Amino acid sequence: MKTEIVTVAPAGDADKVIFQRAGEILRAGGLVVFPTETVYGLGANALDPAAAEKIFAAKGRPGDNPLIVHVADPKDAEAFAVATPVYYQLAERFMPGPLTVILDKKPVVPSTVTGGLDTVAVRCPAHPVARALIRTAGIPVAAPSANLSGSPSPTSAAHAAADLCGRVDMILDGGECAIGVESTVIRLTEDGCVLLRPGEILPRELASVVKHVHVSPAVLDPGAAGEHPASPGMKYRHYAPRTKLVLVDATSDEFAAFVKGQQGACGVLAYTEDLDRFADRQVMDLGAREDPAAQMHNLFRVLREADHMQVPVIYAPLPPKTDEYLALYNRIIRAAGCEVLKGRS
Ligand code: TXA
Ligand code: MG
Repeated sequence: MKTEIVTVAPAGDADKVIFQRAGEILRAGGLVVFPTETVYGLGANALDPAAAEKIFAAKGRPGDNPLIVHVADPKDAEAFAVATPVYYQLAERFMPGPLTVILDKKPVVPSTVTGGLDTVAVRCPAHPVARALIRTAGIPVAAPSANLSGSPSPTSAAHAAADLCGRVDMILDGGECAIGVESTVIRLTEDGCVLLRPGEILPRELASVVKHVHVSPAVLDPGAAGEHPASPGMKYRHYAPRTKLVLVDATSDEFAAFVKGQQGACGVLAYTEDLDRFADRQVMDLGAREDPAAQMHNLFRVLREADHMQVPVIYAPLPPKTDEYLALYNRIIRAAGCEVLKGRS
């Protein structure tokens, strides 16, 4: 299949034609990659089982891992999901934005989209290109991250193209994604919510709307997902570069000493402040140590670029487990296949 790659500016009049064509492709059952504020998405008509099938084929995604359905307006979810008062309270505070809420599904949603579950994930993205596309298409858009299953999520059109060129009809290039990690995913409970996947929206922010925020054990420990994880996507090895990544649990001095002590060639992911400590190694900048937003923005790009290092192993510092770093910890521990070394001598 030939993939058309088109650069779009959010509100430009000239781009109306592009959104109309992209919307037509979606309505006709095709695949369109588009930017969101988190990562790029691989979109298809969420109400068309054959179109949703194509997403799984293009990504090589396991069929039991359900898709998020994207809407231009929170109330559009009512066409296919049971929207509760709490959903609307959350929407009021966080939508459009990087929050995904799991709701009971209506029969119109094909089971392909929900991986056979009786719930459906709903998200209303803030990115103007995503919003223009969904609005013009006039349908709910199912969209996982636009990467091959298992590799790091794409934060630029070039990343998406590297994985999916020839497998999708169109890629809309709207520049780099601002946030860089995927949306916060929650399931509502009687007295609050369960955090299934951490993102830019933090547990304490959710707690300003719902009473109790319970962090699923699988967020910090992929092994805790067990046989029937609450969010199927969290059980797979994920976000992984082809090169082996190992996390080191250490202070910055210990981490520098650990890397110095390695005999063979290795790559290093390091905080900006520490870069010159690794001048004799191949090193990539994760962002400033105390700047989780910069680290989130950089992580997936750095994981992709690290694959060009031509080294057998890459070492990176284990992030803290505090709220601000939860999304980073959750992604990098999966990218490393849970390999964590103690950096203390
Ligand atoms: O930021 C994002 O959420 C991006 C952009 C494109 O919107 N999308 C994204 O989709 O990250 P994906 O498919 O890569 O991740 C969706 C996550 C998976 O962990 C999946 O298991 C979970 O959401 N999920 C989807 N539907 C679910 C459901 N009904 N119940 C529990 N988890 C669900
Ligand atoms: Mg994904």
